[in-house]
Amino acid sequence: MHFDYYIPTKILFGRGRLKELATAALPGKKALIVITNGQSMKRLGYLDKVKQYLKENGVETVLFDKILPNPTLAHVMEAAELARRESCDMVVGLGGGSAIDSAKSIAMMVKNPGNYWEYVKGREIEKEVLPIIAIPTTAGTGTESDPWTVITNQETNEKIGYGVAQLFPALSIVDPELMVSVPANLTAYQGMDAFFHAAEGYLAKSAQPASDVFALDSIRRIAKFLPEAVRDGNNMQAREEMAWASTQSGMVESTSCCISEHSMEHALSAFYPQLPHGAGLVALSVPYFSHLMEKDEEKVAARYMDMARAMGEENVASPSAFITALKKLIKNVGLENLKLSDWGLKQDEAEKLAENSFEAMGALYQLDPVELTREDAGAIIRKAIR
Ligand SMILES: [Fe+2]
Repeated sequence: MHFDYYIPTKILFGRGRLKELATAALPGKKALIVITNGQSMKRLGYLDKVKQYLKENGVETVLFDKILPNPTLAHVMEAAELARRESCDMVVGLGGGSAIDSAKSIAMMVKNPGNYWEYVKGREIEKEVLPIIAIPTTAGTGTESDPWTVITNQETNEKIGYGVAQLFPALSIVDPELMVSVPANLTAYQGMDAFFHAAEGYLAKSAQPASDVFALDSIRRIAKFLPEAVRDGNNMQAREEMAWASTQSGMVESTSCCISEHSMEHALSAFYPQLPHGAGLVALSVPYFSHLMEKDEEKVAARYMDMARAMGEENVASPSAFITALKKLIKNVGLENLKLSDWGLKQDEAEKLAENSFEAMGALYQLDPVELTREDAGAIIRKAIR
């Protein structure tokens, strides 16, 4: 055994805990609140509550409300400039992964010089990253408990995950009551994203004892409760189980890592920004995990069988039981008829997308349990687009 373990985020988990923002010890006095350009945080009253609780806690607020579902480099730079001008000393991300990831990247760029993309491409951080508070309103990304942020550079068609230890939130408030209003299809996409963080982290060469425990437990909870959260969004137990599964999958991403399924998906949604991340992953998943198994069954057999058992399969005798369980889960969350062509993807782009996945996110291929070539990736993407 040889591994690092580091998850420095304080997590307040449970129904109704958002109100503790009014009393919790906070790492700053003036917050930039980051939300998306959609109306939901305002319409549902979450933004007003967050502002009010922060005020009660003696914290001033400034709002940045332009973030897109696939957050862009341009907005990171614009919001960092706003935070600098307003002398903010912490950044609050309220919403789904796009808002919280943006909050992380913005927090990094308030004091660091140059352009964010230079850091994504390897430049070292020189100055302090402002403290980050994450308040997720969806169960999927796990960004509240990991150091990752995914931003798209629209000029270069690159969507790249970037992570350094300074990007762990200082505080995350995970309140499942904030998640009841997520519509069924988004609940399914986001929940499946959390599932793949766990499954990929369990298969990665970087897996370690702690990530294994988190991953199998997440996989078990998601297989059991995501179908119910999709069927009845007001089922608080299902929402709560999914909230924890997602946060725990973030802890998998903190202790292990995603593998190339995520590289491929980022290529898809870099070129098709309307494609939800979770939808891209679901479409890739059966071809992807089947391809790994067909290429080198021995390397994945034990772990596929562990995951199949965690998903409730009985009498698991071969690794294909995981593929069977995955297909069942996709069906049970209502995504069996999902087609990438509905978002405009075309099969003859498969090789270009495979190439982009290696160029932009090649590092994750190094962690795959079975080595994949560009030809393998092209074949998987081609099948996924069908
Ligand atoms: Fe993801």
